[in-house]
Amino acid sequence: MDLTVPAVSHLLQRATTLEHADPLVRDRILQKRRIALLFYESSTRTRTSFELACKALGADTTLVSSLSSSIEKGESLKDTGLTLRALGAEAIILRHNSSGAAWLLEESTRLPVINAGDGMHEHPTQALLDLRTILTHLRPGAAEVGPETLSGVTVTIVGDILHSRVARSNMLLLPRLGARVLLCGPKELLPEMAAKSSPGIEIERDFESAIRQSQAIMMLRIQAERIANLQLEQYKAAYQLTGQRLASQAPNAIVMHPGPIIRGLEITAGVADGPQSTILEQVTNGVAIRMAVMERALTAESK
Ligand code: CP
Repeated sequence: MDLTVPAVSHLLQRATTLEHADPLVRDRILQKRRIALLFYESSTRTRTSFELACKALGADTTLVSSLSSSIEKGESLKDTGLTLRALGAEAIILRHNSSGAAWLLEESTRLPVINAGDGMHEHPTQALLDLRTILTHLRPGAAEVGPETLSGVTVTIVGDILHSRVARSNMLLLPRLGARVLLCGPKELLPEMAAKSSPGIEIERDFESAIRQSQAIMMLRIQAERIANLQLEQYKAAYQLTGQRLASQAPNAIVMHPGPIIRGLEITAGVADGPQSTILEQVTNGVAIRMAVMERALTAESK
């Protein structure tokens, strides 16, 4: 997340403008521009919302996924990128299981590469759509954002912080707008050094204490393979967001989750579907944010 605060503010404004724009005017912005979606990992939200965002701006898109392309035959990331460029791609939206893959592809192809999630590193557009969701609820009507916009707001991120690119991008973005970020989870998924990753980040191991202090609670998916050495029932007892916990400790906080959610593990179905949940709103915000990001990548707008 290397955007300046003014650039973030401008992207948020453009997201709103584009969301409300006349579709017939909007689809001239990237009319007939060629954009490749290159996905080495499965995705529902990110892939679909990027594709819808590109199409809403008039672009032509093509999807290359690792399971149905020559990647299966061993073609490298660099050669795949060069091939897409030779086919006329003007930008590549990349999801990859290796940290740093987006940077590598940009170096190899000299095309704009939009990071749609790289390994355990970053998921910048997720953090931007999360920010838009937080602002809608906690700073409604804010026309622009600055370093103090989220002062007085505590966001708790709960779960597998160590492996989460969503956590990392939010940890880089939210404190720069004044938010206090609490990280919560067991030592296996949240090492002490995480608190040193950026100013404005603290660790609170006690889940109920953390959510009691929070205006936004961001739950992360627990990947069963990551917690093989943890006791699942023990994890749920300590960190599952239940209706009882939410009602007693954080009755006014918004409940966020980047998805996919595992109902009954990190979050109960009642909380996921409940009135404090913003999970589907986050998904919807993905389209507007990704329109603004694609416009920025391929036009002089928002530079
Ligand atoms: N939040 C997110 O990245 O979801 P997908 O893996 O479905 O894209």
